[in-house]
Amino acid sequence: MPKVTIDGTELECAEGTTLFEAGAKLAAGIETACVGKGTCGLCRVKVLAGAEHLSPYTDEERKHLGNVYHITKVRLSCRTRVSGDVAVEVVRKKRK
Ligand code: FES
Repeated sequence: MPKVTIDGTELECAEGTTLFEAGAKLAAGIETACVGKGTCGLCRVKVLAGAEHLSPYTDEERKHLGNVYHITKVRLSCRTRVSGDVAVEVVRKKRK
């Protein structure tokens, strides 16, 4: 089973699980307004390792994040399914 690491905490999960679902199980604090429907654009995570074990970049991600994944390594967790070990960190809004 793929091992998902979010902000340094590990979880084993079934292949095909989204990073959003894994984050919910870990209470990782991934932001959301649409609860995983791909419309709010808030559930951002930065890929640290294992990008080759993630589902392809989606049109919803392109709409919210643009075409800069190769620079930012940021994905929408609810659009990203795992097929192997990955590590990500939650992208949080900066608080003033
Ligand atoms: S939870 Fe809203 S876009 Fe992912």
